[in-house]
Amino acid sequence: MNASDKLFYNLNIYTPIDTGKPSFGKDQNIIKEYRNSAIYVRNGIIIDIGTKDELIINNTNNNSVFELIDMCSATIIPGFVDPHTHMCFANRRESEFDMRLKGATYLEILENDGGILSSVNAVKNSTEEKLVSITRDLVLSAMSSGTTTIEIKSGYGLFKEEELKMLSAIKKVRDTTPLDIVATFMAAHAVPSEYKDNHEGFIDLIIKEMFPDVLKQNIAEFCDVFCEKGVFTIDESRKLLQAAEKAGLKTKIHADEVFDTGGASLAAELAVTSAEHLLAANIDNLKAMGQANTIAVLLPATAYSLKKEYANARLMIDQCNLPVALATDCNPGSCFCESMPFVFGLAVMNMNMTVNEALVASTLNAAYAINRNNIVGSLEIGKQADFIVLDGESPTILAYHAGSNSILNVYKKGEKVI
Ligand code: NIG
Ligand code: FE
Repeated sequence: MNASDKLFYNLNIYTPIDTGKPSFGKDQNIIKEYRNSAIYVRNGIIIDIGTKDELIINNTNNNSVFELIDMCSATIIPGFVDPHTHMCFANRRESEFDMRLKGATYLEILENDGGILSSVNAVKNSTEEKLVSITRDLVLSAMSSGTTTIEIKSGYGLFKEEELKMLSAIKKVRDTTPLDIVATFMAAHAVPSEYKDNHEGFIDLIIKEMFPDVLKQNIAEFCDVFCEKGVFTIDESRKLLQAAEKAGLKTKIHADEVFDTGGASLAAELAVTSAEHLLAANIDNLKAMGQANTIAVLLPATAYSLKKEYANARLMIDQCNLPVALATDCNPGSCFCESMPFVFGLAVMNMNMTVNEALVASTLNAAYAINRNNIVGSLEIGKQADFIVLDGESPTILAYHAGSNSILNVYKKGEKVI
């Protein structure tokens, strides 16, 4: 007997099916629909799906006590999983956005000690409490747009003390909000001016001085690097990611965001969990990524904000066997956006992904990209009852009702949080 059991009925469910691996190719277009159905939730986990009558009979027979909740023909999808954000920061960079609108490029601003380096300065001068407060507000805003699981990177500290301050702030946000939060250690986000001519020395510092503390405190699960012209080279990125893997961190890479430096090829060589951005990646390297089972995490709101060509999702899905995931990349510089519905709309309208592909990309494949596929990403028996009620008859509403919040309610582990 369990008094916390809930039977939600009168539901129209749209969900990917988890076959034990991320979805790619034609499979990424498959979504299962249940009409007028019900789910039975115990301790936040879905333990049965079927008709209301079936679930009532099953659970009356085994003497369960449950709350019956009429969802009034609600359209539901799994909670969004946002697998790439830089939401922990201390300053907004609105004036930089103005500079970019007037023609300055993202890398030019970084070269002149602005961009990421301006955020590094702000984190240095910020208390941990301020970081917690800014990050929590953004996380809760993302939740009101349907995000129930999120990844957050460090990377505006660069040096040990500040990186650990960021990771500690992310942990505090995790402990005080309903979402599942996955932390990524990203000291290799920019080259500090002290190491401008000694990248190798900075990579060694991360490996020798920072990895041990990050691991000892068990405060991050992934390691990421900004592999880009003028930031970290392929060789520097390789050295860092190989050491991270050896130390026990899972790996990701910011690859080919601005220039094709071969980041996607390195992602394939190291078989990292995911490679992100890929705006400039070439087809051969993308095919190699497909063979290495690496997930392509695409960030269309960043292309929008940087006024760049969108990543070629069609090529990746149709010709490269690449599982595609979607994320916001929310950060104060290249993309200040925490809304997965906005990203979803861009993916459908500007990257020509189908609604089904975008749904798989923003739930199941995104969950695989941050190693949470065992608990979230689809509405199936054994996974958490994390779901969103849409203000429409199908997930198409997310692209159709542009610029509006089509999320009526958000449930995390069976509890209404919005
Ligand atoms: O993914 N490109 C590197 N990192 C972020 C931007 C971070 C920033 O500008 O503050 C990105 O776009
Ligand atoms: Fe990023």
